[in-house]
Amino acid sequence: MKIEVKDYDWKPIDADLLLYPVSAETPATGNPENSSDETLSSLVAELQQSKEWTPSKGNSIVLLAPRGCSARRVGLIGLGKGNTAFDSGSFRTAVMNIVRSLRSAPVNRITAVISSISDQEKAGRMLLEGILMGQFDPGVHKSSEGRVDNNFTITLVSSLGQEETNLIAEQSKIISDAVNLARKLSNEPGNLLYPEPFVREVQVASADTDLKIEVMKEKELREKGFGCLLAVAQGSCNKPRLCILEHNPDSDHAKPPVVLVGKGVTFDSGGISIKPSASMEEMRADKSGACSVLGAMLAISRLKLPTRVIGIMPLVENLPGGNAQRPGDVVTAYNGTTVEIINTDAEGRLILADAIAWAVKKFQPVCLVDIATLTGACAIALGQYRAGLFSNNDKLCAQISTAADRGGEKLWRMPLDDEYKEALESKIADLKNCGDRLGGAITAAKFLESFVGEIPWCHIDMAGTDYFPSGINKGTPPGFGVRTLVEFVRLLADTAC
Ligand code: BES
Ligand code: MN
Ligand code: ZN
Repeated sequence: MKIEVKDYDWKPIDADLLLYPVSAETPATGNPENSSDETLSSLVAELQQSKEWTPSKGNSIVLLAPRGCSARRVGLIGLGKGNTAFDSGSFRTAVMNIVRSLRSAPVNRITAVISSISDQEKAGRMLLEGILMGQFDPGVHKSSEGRVDNNFTITLVSSLGQEETNLIAEQSKIISDAVNLARKLSNEPGNLLYPEPFVREVQVASADTDLKIEVMKEKELREKGFGCLLAVAQGSCNKPRLCILEHNPDSDHAKPPVVLVGKGVTFDSGGISIKPSASMEEMRADKSGACSVLGAMLAISRLKLPTRVIGIMPLVENLPGGNAQRPGDVVTAYNGTTVEIINTDAEGRLILADAIAWAVKKFQPVCLVDIATLTGACAIALGQYRAGLFSNNDKLCAQISTAADRGGEKLWRMPLDDEYKEALESKIADLKNCGDRLGGAITAAKFLESFVGEIPWCHIDMAGTDYFPSGINKGTPPGFGVRTLVEFVRLLADTAC
C-alpha cells in the first residue's frame, strides 16, 4: 500500500475509485474553486433531487464513470447529520462495504477526499482501515476462484501533512492486519482449527514480534488444577491448551501487567446439553474472543506500546461423547470454587473462570479485561450493534468505553447487582454454572466476577456483535474487540505520562 497526500486543489486523475463523503447537513456546494468538487456536488444534488440516494449516516452508493468526472468510479459515503461528531464506525463500515463490493474489479488507485471532515486524523484512520478491511476474503476454502490481491495506491485529499499521514497509514495497517487475522481465524472450521493448530497459528503470527509465548498442555493443566476448563474439554479427543502471550517492553517481570483473556471454544456443540442443529455451524466462531485477544496482542506489540500486557487464550472444544461432562457433575475450579454443572452449554464461563483465577493469582494484574461470545441472552438484549460491557470498577469501565469509542466499536454497560447472583446458588456446591433464562447475560457475568476478586475488571460479551451470517456483517466475521483492546492499552500509555 502506497499513500500520498494532496491538498485542496485536487483532481481525481486516473483514480479507479474516488471516495467522497457527503454531509446531510451542509448543502452539497463543495468548493467552488475546485472543479472536481463542483462536478461531484452537482451530481449529489441531482441524486438527492431524484431521491435516488440520500447522504444518511453510513449510506453509500457506487457510480460507474459518472458524467464529467475523470475517476472510473465514484463511491459516495453519507455522513448523516452533524459531521463535527462524525460516526467513525459507520464511516469505516461504509468504506469497507464499497471496497468489498469492488473486490473482483480492477481497483488499485483510490483517491479519497476527507478534507471536508472536521476530525481528519480520525477520518483518515477509519478510511484506511475500511479499505484494508474491505479486502478481507472469507472464501479461503473455495477451490476454484483466483484471488485478487489488490496493491492499492491511495491518494488522501486532506490538510494533514505527509509525515502525519505516513504515521496514520502505518498504524492503520498494523490494526487492520490484526483485525483481519482475527476475522480469518474466527471463521475457520472446527475440524481444521482446534486448540493445537490454533496454537500453531499463534506461533506463526507472533514469530516476527517481541511477544513471548507460553503454552500449557493437558498434563500441566491437570497438575495445576484447571478443573473447569478440563471438564469442558473432556468430551473431545482434541486436547485443550492454555496459550499465553506476553508483551513486556521493559523486560520488567515485577511490573503488574494488564491482562486480556479471550474465550477460545474452537467449536461449541453445547456438549451433552446439545444445541439444536439449526445454525449450529455458526458455533465455529465461538473462539472469537481468543482471536480478538491474539489480534490485539499482535497490534500492541507492533505499535510498540509501552505497557506490559499479557494475553490469555483458553482453548477447548465442547463436544458430547462417552467421556463428556454431564449436567449434575461437580467440578473444582483453579481457585478451589466448586461448581455444579447445570448446563454443559454454559461452557465459556467455565474456561474463562479458570483462566481468570490463574491470571489473578499469578500476575496480580493492574486490571483484567475478558472478551467472549458468551451468551445468546446478550445478543437478544442488545442485538448486533452493541456488545455488553460489565464491570466492577467505574474508572476502568469509563476507560474501556472511551477506548471503544476511539476504535469505532460500540459497547453498552449492563448491571451487576448482587441480587443477580442468587440465580447461581447451588444446593450441593459453591456455585451453579448457570441460572434460569432470566437475565442470562448478567448471571454469566456474575459467575465470572466471582473469580476476579478485587482486581478492576471488565467483561465484554460480544455474542451479538460478533454475529455474522446475516445482518450488518454481511457474511464475514467482524473481528470485534481488537480495536477496543488496542485503543485501551494505547489510552493507558497516554494517561500514564
Ligand atoms: N457460545 C454460546 C453463546 C452464543 C450464542 C454465542 C449465540 C453466539 C451466538 C454459549 O456458550 C452458550 O451456549 N450460552 C448459552 C448459555 C445458557 C446455556 C445458560 C446460551 O446463551 O444459550
Ligand atoms: Mn455454549
Ligand atoms: Zn460457547
